[in-house]
Amino acid sequence: PSNSRHFLQSKSESRMAEESVKKWVLMVTAQTPTNIAVIKYWGKRDEKLILPINDSISVTLDPSHLCTTTSVAVSPDFTHDRMWLNGKEMSLSGGRYQNCLRELRARASEVEDEEKGIKITKKDWEKLHVHVASYNNFPTAAGLASSAAGFACLVFSLAKLMNVKEDQSKLSAIARQGSGSACRSLYGGFVKWIMGKEEDGSDSVAVQLADENHWDDLVIIIAVVSSRQKETSSTSGMLETVETSMLIQHRAKEVVPKRIIQMEEAIKNRDFPSFARLSCADSNQFHAVCLDTSPPIFYMNDTSHRIISCVEKWNRFEGTPQVAYTFDAGPNAVLISHNRKTAALLLQRLLFHFPPNSDTDLNSYVIGDKTILKDAG
Ligand code: DP6
Repeated sequence: PSNSRHFLQSKSESRMAEESVKKWVLMVTAQTPTNIAVIKYWGKRDEKLILPINDSISVTLDPSHLCTTTSVAVSPDFTHDRMWLNGKEMSLSGGRYQNCLRELRARASEVEDEEKGIKITKKDWEKLHVHVASYNNFPTAAGLASSAAGFACLVFSLAKLMNVKEDQSKLSAIARQGSGSACRSLYGGFVKWIMGKEEDGSDSVAVQLADENHWDDLVIIIAVVSSRQKETSSTSGMLETVETSMLIQHRAKEVVPKRIIQMEEAIKNRDFPSFARLSCADSNQFHAVCLDTSPPIFYMNDTSHRIISCVEKWNRFEGTPQVAYTFDAGPNAVLISHNRKTAALLLQRLLFHFPPNSDTDLNSYVIGDKTILKDAG
């Protein structure tokens, strides 16, 4: 209705008037892919602000594969903030959600839709409530749909809804407070999360190293080794590592800074052998610091180890790396091949060594826009 411009009416106004104005919902939908780190983030120097102990570099996946779609809505009818994940209501009371919401509300600005007769002032945003509905295009139980895509999408869509006039880098610093790796999903292509030096985390942001067209012949295959939920979450795992591992200090201070420079160079020059060597070495060192944690954390299983051996043997046989592997906080293998031809050969080898319906627990492959499921034979 045309009289609904200033919907936050004072209490003295009649109930009728209030009812006639509470009739709109403003909504924004966004889609954000997940990202896979090739130089890993593991360990925080500030738990609350989520500030890392080293820089990290990732590849953002194509949104048609592992991604989150989030719709956010605001209406004067909403009485409190609510969120649904894959159709199931979940609490928004956690500190990480609240930190993101607070940061965004503080930066919200006026929104006006003349046609619909909606006007929301900067002050209105302090009182208005939002509803969030988020879906992953991949079974969440598979342990692959990480919090990275989820928080990046939440922050991006709310920023659009609230007309937050900040650049991507500032938004990445807000998404970082939801989940560290989320800051890298604000960009496509190759992304670096700069650890930063400031205590308030203002310079701990993501930057794009190269866009999605820079090296588009790479093909990523994800071998889903287990759909079981991981026993140790990344958050608690990295906290235990920082508290108990001596190796992590060496990694963060001596190893990663050099690798970051080399990896940036490899990406810039599309130098696949260097890219593969660095990715594999960094994944292996990340799992080594997990093992150096007390009590030790085992993210990979026998099938993961067999996949590593298979790739290592192949790369050694060819004399130059054909495929890179990297494993996050779980047993699933992310395999990056040089081009389509090597991807086809890799898939052939995987299907030979880990055939569908065999007794290995490798149950599906995600390749490009195709998923080969064990059940499909
Ligand atoms: C192994 O970003 O999930 O995937 O910041 O506590 O939410 P929190 O952790 P999270 O950790 C990701 C760890 C990793 C490596 C990486 O993505 O860089």
